[in-house]
Amino acid sequence: MNTFNWDQTYDVKVERFNEQHRHLFDIIKKLYATMEDKNDRLALAMVINELVKYSKEHFMEEDVCLLNNQYPHYDAHRRQHKLFMDKIEQFAADYNSGKHLLHFDILVFLKKWVLQHILVADKHYGEFLNSKGVF
Ligand SMILES: [Fe+2]
Ligand SMILES: [Fe+2]
Repeated sequence: MNTFNWDQTYDVKVERFNEQHRHLFDIIKKLYATMEDKNDRLALAMVINELVKYSKEHFMEEDVCLLNNQYPHYDAHRRQHKLFMDKIEQFAADYNSGKHLLHFDILVFLKKWVLQHILVADKHYGEFLNSKGVF
């Protein structure tokens, strides 16, 4: 389950965003690893919060870059980020208030969403941004 490494398949042709995606992969890997140590709720809460914070920062940077460069699919892209943030923020809030335990299906969702988003939506902006001089 913990095979979640960045490789060229995920290259979006903008180095700054590749770097951020690698960092996101690392956080999700840490989440899996921390989950295996089931009793450590505090460590898990910290990684979940790190994921929320870093995703927000990353999405914000992409949104600003896409908006500034007048990316034609900006609205749709931003909407995808927002839906994901709403979902993980809700999950983090529930987890922090002790409502839910962390289940592997949530991690499977996170991983699938992130991979799918990078492979389809993020990869789509690569050539467009390159044409605007963003690499
Ligand atoms: Fe994105
Ligand atoms: Fe991204």
